[in-house]
Amino acid sequence: MTVKSNVPITGLVKKIFRATYGVEDTELYRDVGLRGRIRNAVKILRASYAKPTCDTNYSNEEIRKAYMIAYYPYYVEPARYVAEVYLKKNLSSSKGNWAFFAGGPCPELLGVAQAIPPPPHVITLDLEKDWFPYQKITCALCRENESFKSRLRSCYGFDIGETLPPASRSRDDLRNANIFFMQNYLSHLSPAGDKVNKFLAWFSAWVNEAKDAACFAFVDLNYGSTAAVFDRFGDENFLRANGLKKIAAHTPTDGEPLTIHHGDTTAASLKNIFTGEKFLQHRWMTNFYFLVLQKR
Ligand SMILES: C[S@@+](CC[C@H](N)C(=O)[O-])C[C@H]1O[C@@H](n2cnc3c(N)ncnc32)[C@H](O)[C@@H]1O
Repeated sequence: MTVKSNVPITGLVKKIFRATYGVEDTELYRDVGLRGRIRNAVKILRASYAKPTCDTNYSNEEIRKAYMIAYYPYYVEPARYVAEVYLKKNLSSSKGNWAFFAGGPCPELLGVAQAIPPPPHVITLDLEKDWFPYQKITCALCRENESFKSRLRSCYGFDIGETLPPASRSRDDLRNANIFFMQNYLSHLSPAGDKVNKFLAWFSAWVNEAKDAACFAFVDLNYGSTAAVFDRFGDENFLRANGLKKIAAHTPTDGEPLTIHHGDTTAASLKNIFTGEKFLQHRWMTNFYFLVLQKR
């Protein structure tokens, strides 16, 4: 089902390209070396996603940069949509921090900030420490809206499924969070072994720490463990045992994903990067599933 058509993207792509590579995207017409580097990194990144379980090397700088232009612009709108339609009306109070698990450069922060008045503190939690400069790009984009004054705290080396709330300030920030967002992580979680059960045990521990009425939003593609985790979240026994209720969901058991259609990307990107070869196709839509839970 198409939930949004023609979401404009050109302006955002231009800004992100400039912030990421330090030059305008029109430089792609001149700089053969830059063009080759980016094309190569986009191919490696997309090939990593084409495997049954992603083995993406986010510690590689060229891969992180490629993510910024090949994926980031497309992952703002799904988060904005879920926040606007399902989170906004269920927040019992406008007070509360936001926490982003596996946030990476955190396009979802930009999306949520377009829908809901921003909080005092935003916390990102990720395994990879070198996303921090890219999270700052996100904050700069958020600040184009003058009401965005949030302070960003970035926790890295934070391993989902393993790490429990870090002590100290971050933990206090998290205890005061009323939105927990996890976008595009479950598709990275291998369905092999006992990983799903481990993830759910870890998640239960987080819910236990969270304040009453906190919302937990998940946005993902149907790879890795998305369907398995969403199934368990649909289980009344699991929800009751964790003091949770389901607010809204569109999961793989509901059928086809939700779809957002994007407007064109920039001419320079189309002519030089997304030229149609394998792993270099232009992306004009984003599919996603989502699920929103709330602590009772
Ligand atoms: C596809 S990116 C998603 C980034 C962002 N949430 C988005 O939607 O664009 C997946 C992120 O998960 C992080 N990640 C992967 N495994 C992780 C783990 N075990 N613990 C924490 N973060 C992890 C990666 O570093 C990366 O930033």
